[in-house]
Amino acid sequence: MATYLGIETSCDETAASIVVDGRNVLSNCLVSQIELHRQFGGVVPEIAAREHLESINEIIDRSLRQAGISNKDIDAIACTAGPGLVGTLLVGFSVATSLSFAWEKPLIAVDHLTAHVCANYLNTDLEPPFLALLVSGGHSQLMHFTDFVEAKIIGQTIDDAAGEAYDKVARLLGLPYPGGPAIDKLAKSGDKTRFPFPQATVDGFDFSFSGVKTAVLRCLEKLEKPWPTEDLAASFQAAVIGALVKKTLQAQKYTNAPKIVLAGGVAANSYLKEQMLSLSPVPVIFPVPEFCTDNAAMVASAAHFKQLKEGASCIAKSDAGLTVYSRRHSDKS
Ligand code: KG4
Ligand code: ZN
Repeated sequence: MATYLGIETSCDETAASIVVDGRNVLSNCLVSQIELHRQFGGVVPEIAAREHLESINEIIDRSLRQAGISNKDIDAIACTAGPGLVGTLLVGFSVATSLSFAWEKPLIAVDHLTAHVCANYLNTDLEPPFLALLVSGGHSQLMHFTDFVEAKIIGQTIDDAAGEAYDKVARLLGLPYPGGPAIDKLAKSGDKTRFPFPQATVDGFDFSFSGVKTAVLRCLEKLEKPWPTEDLAASFQAAVIGALVKKTLQAQKYTNAPKIVLAGGVAANSYLKEQMLSLSPVPVIFPVPEFCTDNAAMVASAAHFKQLKEGASCIAKSDAGLTVYSRRHSDKS
């Protein structure tokens, strides 16, 4: 049995969690900065980093307390190394490194995107292979997992991420940050056929969401106020989710993956789930909403499966140039 303390600070959530064997969540603690950033319409990196500093020690203490264990019971510390905001990542990474020295526990640095997919292992018995659709505020990727933590990227956005498109369109509509939950809710009472926003045609399994955002902007310029916000939200959502579902189903056919796994903040979207469940020829799995958006349980899970695969070689060494990263090399610029 291996107990991991997970730490996550890649954006605007300060999170710590205790997870056993990559699946059994003993505690999942989090302080969200959303209210603080809302007045700016998005995350302000400098403010986010300072807030992480304020909260991180208390959140780690709370995660241990809620799990009913002490630092002596931990086998390893896991933290996010990237992608994310460098200033915020550095807070979690520095604290994890210090605790690793002070408590004499190994440190395992994990990739945030892999961790999002690992959220699907929490409190379940899911096993690879599967096709994962990762849709967050910063990324939209189709990944073929043949192993617990290793995947081949077979498609990704060529411009905006799906969550980013939701946040930008919400802003145009005068809705609060983050835009995803607000649009999801409004769209439920809207007519999705009223504004036929375009789905971009992109080669292969890649996506593009900047066109639909511009189409909403052009439409608003012509509309008189008060805007039919529900219909606009539903029509925008139909275009974005329609593209995600179409490419995911094509990729499932191509890979012949026996399951589809959803991950990331946009995986909490009710219309995406409804569409995937009704149209997919294979089972569709998605995390409970608290594990879709940023959390530290997924980080602890990713570390466990990474250590199972790579053994001692995945343990971060202080003389090996420990570092955080804002983007993956494979990400398009
Ligand atoms: O995974 P996440 O918490 O952070 C990143 O790693 O980016 O994702 C945050 C994104 C935001 O863009 C937010 O608007 C979106 O997920 N989101 C949603 C929903 N809940 C969160 N998008 C659509 N529908 C939702 N219900
Ligand atoms: Zn995330």
